[in-house]
Amino acid sequence: MLDKIEEAGSNKATFFELLGGEANGVENIRLLVETFYDIMDSDPKAKPLRDLHQADLTSAREKLFMFLTGWTGGPQLYIERYGHPMLRARHLPFVVDESARDQWMYCMIKAMHQLGYEEDLMKKLATQLYGVADFMRNQ
Ligand code: HEM
Repeated sequence: MLDKIEEAGSNKATFFELLGGEANGVENIRLLVETFYDIMDSDPKAKPLRDLHQADLTSAREKLFMFLTGWTGGPQLYIERYGHPMLRARHLPFVVDESARDQWMYCMIKAMHQLGYEEDLMKKLATQLYGVADFMRNQ
């Protein structure tokens, strides 16, 4: 596993491959996103972040799943359906400050822990996602 992660650093293996690739990657990303939103929906620490979202999380779950599948190096489900993500622009209607960013990361890291991700994979994925989350910040 460690070798594979090092390969990911040099772009030889994508996160999608590390997460199960063609056989299980899509399923594992689905599970990660479902767990992420279940945590956001129930953990009091993420309440302000939860409140930015619609009452019904169905479309948020589906869109993050589609986005992350492509972003990790799997099939570009989001782009095929919706075109360029323009993620930062899409987040402009919401107040994304440091606190919201940190709550988002908190839910994602807690989800990876719950799913038993290996420490190295978790750190690398969290570092990359932090970059995206911080880029989304608009305050
Ligand atoms: C930094 C803190 C973040 C906050 C506060 C936040 C908040 C939100 C909110 C409120 C929505 C609308 C959901 C709804 O319809 O109820 C949304 C949509 C979305 N977010 Fe985030 N988000 C954050 C970070 C991220 C990150 C890091 C990613 C990707 C790695 C991401 C990917 C998406 C996607 C793909 C959508 C759907 C966009 C669309 O097609 O409408 N978000 N986000």
